[in-house]
Amino acid sequence: MDAKGDFAMPVINENYLKLPGSYLFAEISKRVTDFKQDHPDANVIRLGIGDVTRALPSVVIDGLHNAVDEMAREETFRGYGPEQGYSFLIQKIIEFDYKPLGITLDEDEVFVSDGSKSDVGNIQEIFGLNNKVAITDPVYPVYLDTNVMAGRTGELQGDGRFAGVCYLTCNAENGFIPALPQEKVDIIYLCYPNNPSGTTLSKAELKKWVDYARQNGAVILYDAAYEAYIQEPGIPHSIYEIEGAKEVAVEFRTFSKNAGFTGTRCAFTVVPKTVVAKTGKGEDCPLNKLWNRRQTTKFNGVPYIVQRGAEAVYTASGQKQIKALINYYMTNAKTIREGLKSVGLEVFGGVNAPYIWLKTPQGMDSWSFFDKLLTEAYIVGTPGSGFGPAGQGYFRLTAFGSQESTQEAIERIKTRLSL
Ligand code: MLT
Repeated sequence: MDAKGDFAMPVINENYLKLPGSYLFAEISKRVTDFKQDHPDANVIRLGIGDVTRALPSVVIDGLHNAVDEMAREETFRGYGPEQGYSFLIQKIIEFDYKPLGITLDEDEVFVSDGSKSDVGNIQEIFGLNNKVAITDPVYPVYLDTNVMAGRTGELQGDGRFAGVCYLTCNAENGFIPALPQEKVDIIYLCYPNNPSGTTLSKAELKKWVDYARQNGAVILYDAAYEAYIQEPGIPHSIYEIEGAKEVAVEFRTFSKNAGFTGTRCAFTVVPKTVVAKTGKGEDCPLNKLWNRRQTTKFNGVPYIVQRGAEAVYTASGQKQIKALINYYMTNAKTIREGLKSVGLEVFGGVNAPYIWLKTPQGMDSWSFFDKLLTEAYIVGTPGSGFGPAGQGYFRLTAFGSQESTQEAIERIKTRLSL
């Protein structure tokens, strides 16, 4: 038998083959690269992926610089740190992000990580494969794709849905408020303020989910990556503002979107010790214990330097500087919302989130509108259908560009786009 013979080769994880060819943002990037090759002079404005463009706040830079200097001296040098994150950062997270909301957390309930994408993708592996997963539709693709990879779903069906997954439709008709599942589900992914639709849930709406989880023995995986963008009062910043949520919810937060850490990498996940799931024998098992085991085995922590940079966010000037950053992007959100409305497009989101979700004109499908916007106005956005079948006929623009390029994009939409 030669080296490529039948029984000489390892067998792949077939679940990966259930997924469509490429990750949404990789596909967009490929299409834009192709377009640029054919149109080398086109000044393309990227409002596609939710990636920040402003420099890191100066307090963060100072925090990073100081930590770099510490690494240069034996007396202050650090090797491996705690896998869960340094106490200096965790204490600030609890004090600044949770205490003002009346939420108390123990230090060992907060896990610092290199990103919410990693954490929301990895968390599923502490759950058994037979759990029923519920996702909103449209949805940030990582929640679903990682469950597909793990084998927690069936095949992709003709309607664009994976068998065995509970899809919770969110569209203009239901005001982007998902209805509670009709069937018993075990793991529920919620993201608010929402990516991609930019919409939010009120406390009363979120309470319905916490109550469902408590009554039905489900766990909520709550992605609050965009909480800092909430402008209006009364909208929950944390799921733990809802009574009983500490029994049923894990929360993901990041420094990527509020402090510009998309390339620097720092986030954290809160896993209260009171959130439990069952063992095969029916005994309670705290998720905190499993997540700690997972992280200590597979992760060596966020660099000391980066954690010092993140810590700097929690100073008076750090808080001021990130507020200014958020205001900057939210000015873009307003520019986009108003600009799109002025040409007669129907828009959602963009008030408490850096995403603007629009209905494609004349019932165009999402990818056709992507091509139209790129070829007529040289603007890159994200096709709604890339976030799930209920995103078909919608399109997402982000407020993370520069103010100049955002204004230019709207000008182009007004003058170059044939609507
Ligand atoms: C996006 O939807 O553009 C994503 O947020 C990018 C990410 O943060 O992974």
